[in-house]
Amino acid sequence: MKHLLKMLDLSGGEIIDILNLADQLKYELKHGIPHSHLLKGKTLGMIFQKASTRTRVSFETGMYQLGGYPLFLSSNDLQIGRGEPVQDTARVLSRYLDGIMIRTFEQKEVEALAQYGNIPIINGLTDFCHPCQVLADLMTIREFKGSFDGLKMCFIGDGNNMANSLIVGCLKVGMSVSIACPDDYQPPKEILDFAVQYGDKFEMTNSPMEAAKGADVLITDVWASMGQEGEAEKRKQAFAGYQINDELMARAKSDAMVLHCLPAHREEEITEKVFESHADEIFEEAENRLHAQKAVMVKLMAD
Ligand code: CP
Ligand code: NVA
Repeated sequence: MKHLLKMLDLSGGEIIDILNLADQLKYELKHGIPHSHLLKGKTLGMIFQKASTRTRVSFETGMYQLGGYPLFLSSNDLQIGRGEPVQDTARVLSRYLDGIMIRTFEQKEVEALAQYGNIPIINGLTDFCHPCQVLADLMTIREFKGSFDGLKMCFIGDGNNMANSLIVGCLKVGMSVSIACPDDYQPPKEILDFAVQYGDKFEMTNSPMEAAKGADVLITDVWASMGQEGEAEKRKQAFAGYQINDELMARAKSDAMVLHCLPAHREEEITEKVFESHADEIFEEAENRLHAQKAVMVKLMAD
């Protein structure tokens, strides 16, 4: 593994290796076992073309805990924000840094950084996918459920970056996946073509009640993602009913867990009541961003 560009690039075994290391790093951190030698003296550039709370703070803190140095690079202050090509940015930054984390709009920009640079590239969210988040989600599912065996993950809402990465990640570790989204908001063909290879382990419907049947894990995300603010009103109408609420929870297993990548819009994609009754899981998931990303950085950047 040279980069983390999308879940499609990882094998099931590579995902499990990252999760095992993430569990170990979490244990070490909680028990005061030092691991600041792992990336001692390494630098990570973090390019942000979109807002972030969790991704920025967890990468920055994680790099510090591993003995390295994180540089926050807002695209507004980089020449990339004034049109310098990503191919040139990649070749320049490769000469200063040991790794780059980038959050941007187009997946092809992340792929171009990897193609033209010669240091590890980590995708911190694009319109197409959010692999760091889904590694943390998988870590959280395994932590609460003990294993992935026989589990069903149900995603309700937009066929967006979160849905795309969850479909791929959950299928690769052996879970079943059901997704409920409006007909006009299905995941892209590349993801559906991947998922159909898994036969009846993958189901897609436009009925949330149908999708939630017997689910062990229910996940949702905002109706309008970053960059789609102008469509918010139209999307509110299209997604009405695509909500995790008590009625939907009653269709899932009685011990079903609920995850949300955050930020959450209460009373839109999830009710306040369901959110708060699953807050332990949701905030453990947020914490696990730190541990999962530290594992990714160690795998990609350690000597
Ligand atoms: N879930 C997530 O990526 O959060 P941020 O947008 O705050 O980084
Ligand atoms: N789908 C959301 C995820 C935020 C972490 C977005 O792209 O804005």
